[in-house]
Amino acid sequence: MSDADANHKDTMNDRKNINKTHLEENNKNYNKRTSFKAMMGYAKPHRWAFVGIFCCSLLGISADLLQPYLVKIAIDDHLAVNQTSIGFLVQLAAIFLGLAIVSFIFTYIQNNLLQHVGQSIVSRIRKDLFRHISRMSMSFFDRFHIGSLVTNVSSDTETISSFFTQVLLSLIRDGMMLVLIIFFMFQLDPVLAGYSLIVLPVIAVVAALFRRMLRRAYQNARTRLSRLIAFTAENLSGMFLIQAFHQEEEQKRRFKEQNLLHLQANIIQARSNVIFNRTFDILGNAALVMMVWLGGRAVLGESLQVGVLYAFISYIRQFFQPINQITMQWNTFQSTTVSMERIWNILSTKPEVADPKSDVVTSINPRQVMGQIDFDHVSFGYLEDRPIFQSLNLHLYPGEMVGIVGTTGAGKSTLISLLNRFYDVNQGSIQIDGTDIRHIPQHTLHRIVGLIQQEPFLFSGTIIDNVRMFRQDITREQAMEACRFVGAQPMISRLPQGYDTRLSERGSGLSAGERQLISFARIVVFQPRVLILDEATANLDSHTEQLVQQALETVSQGRTTIVIAHRLSTVMHADRILVMEQGAIVEEGTHQELVAAQGIYADLYQHAREAGKPSCTTKLG
Ligand SMILES: Nc1ncnc2c1ncn2[C@@H]1O[C@H](COP(=O)(O)OP(=O)(O)OP(=O)(O)O)[C@@H](O)[C@H]1O
Ligand SMILES: [Mg+2]
Repeated sequence: MSDADANHKDTMNDRKNINKTHLEENNKNYNKRTSFKAMMGYAKPHRWAFVGIFCCSLLGISADLLQPYLVKIAIDDHLAVNQTSIGFLVQLAAIFLGLAIVSFIFTYIQNNLLQHVGQSIVSRIRKDLFRHISRMSMSFFDRFHIGSLVTNVSSDTETISSFFTQVLLSLIRDGMMLVLIIFFMFQLDPVLAGYSLIVLPVIAVVAALFRRMLRRAYQNARTRLSRLIAFTAENLSGMFLIQAFHQEEEQKRRFKEQNLLHLQANIIQARSNVIFNRTFDILGNAALVMMVWLGGRAVLGESLQVGVLYAFISYIRQFFQPINQITMQWNTFQSTTVSMERIWNILSTKPEVADPKSDVVTSINPRQVMGQIDFDHVSFGYLEDRPIFQSLNLHLYPGEMVGIVGTTGAGKSTLISLLNRFYDVNQGSIQIDGTDIRHIPQHTLHRIVGLIQQEPFLFSGTIIDNVRMFRQDITREQAMEACRFVGAQPMISRLPQGYDTRLSERGSGLSAGERQLISFARIVVFQPRVLILDEATANLDSHTEQLVQQALETVSQGRTTIVIAHRLSTVMHADRILVMEQGAIVEEGTHQELVAAQGIYADLYQHAREAGKPSCTTKLG
């Protein structure tokens, strides 16, 4: 097993070990620690690279810090005592240049290595996050807003990236630099070094005072930015509504408000940074003045060499920079932990709909499914206190075509979501050919059950890609054949590049009916044994609908088919029609039987006939 695999296994195990009750108790420290540990787990495979980075840093900094020391030797041992040998000075200059080159090379390697490692870690986290999110059940998406998930995948991971590429570097590099500077200072003159350390407690107090202010400013700026992004994204996708309702001015005003808040937050953040940096500068200069005063007096009293004073002044100048950096990066680190926690919260959420455990898994060949479907005393509700179904029973025979009509909100789409296992039933069971669908691996189930939804979703990509859903084992010829079969050919041939026309986001360049035709072709290609159409022909004109109906009749031969429709003409020829109301099946039978029964369906039919077209959009129940 490779390091990467081992690490992944570690993190997966960590994930499994997460104690759910702890999460629920919202034990913040526990969460912070666990999430930090989990994220650091991603760095494990790169531990040798980190050792390399550490060594490069050490060499780079040492080369940097030796430079003042060399000048000190030149001044004290040669210039000041008039023992100048040109040859030796040239030698010193060469060493100085050599050190500068060494510092350059190692800093360069260290930076590149760190960027490479940091970016690889974040790319791994992003990949895991995306994979994890795509495995989540629908209930997860009911709870987490798409906008915040996008922020998690993009900006939270970016923050973590800056942790690995900047914060960690600063902690390593600046920390080492500080230690080395102190070491060199004590090496030169312990008394003077002791004096310089007096400023340390002052620095600590200033840093502590600024810490909260900087953190709050930083977090505020980030929150404002994400709100601005969310507002912009929502407005862009709802632009047609804004224009249709003439809300441009109002939205402009709201945007201005958000933009202003963002501006203010950024200015406050920048101002805090400037105040903080300048305070450090003042402290640095004060220390410098002190050094010149104390050191100058010592030089005059001849108890200190000029070269030592020069080196000291150089070190004091360099002393404040790493402290400043560490304090700043420490604040970034605090925000990183928040991002880590948010990402970990997602990674540690288990999908509610899980694949069956190995002891109950039933292997089924999707091609050999007969298509018998049984809803057995099914109870379900999206929310605990709002049941949609209570002990619902429904049995479909292999190859049967069942039409479902009913009021808006009666639970028709919910029934289909349950059959697809987008949600799990609360009580009872759903079986396909006698096997509980919870015992069928999800990828098998989704090859058995094919669904065309009310609003077909197309991805950005070509028509062909959309028909075969990016699967390379389906040939171009098969995809084109399916399009011809459902009558999408004329529409596609009118497009500029035919089958290779690239669709924009969500297929927005096509009409709703055209999108539906493509989703029909998709289902024909995949040939599921159970076919479900949820209001799938609602957007087609009657001529196209007729074409699709004919195609469907052929496709649905020998397959169990469920057709949900408000238009009665779509379901009239079904083997059986169910009428649903408030989560219950209130009538069932063939069209003739239901009309003869003089119930709700007969009423609907009557209304539709009077309106000139058999339709179910009039009131029901
Ligand atoms: N994700 C959800 N979370 C909470 N409640 C939901 C969710 N989806 C649907 N509902 C509720 O469940 C009920 C049934 O909805 P469903 O979508 O199944 O109706 P439907 O019969 O398909 O209606 P329509 O004919 O309008 O498509 C509705 O009251 C709806 O508000
Ligand atoms: Mg519906």
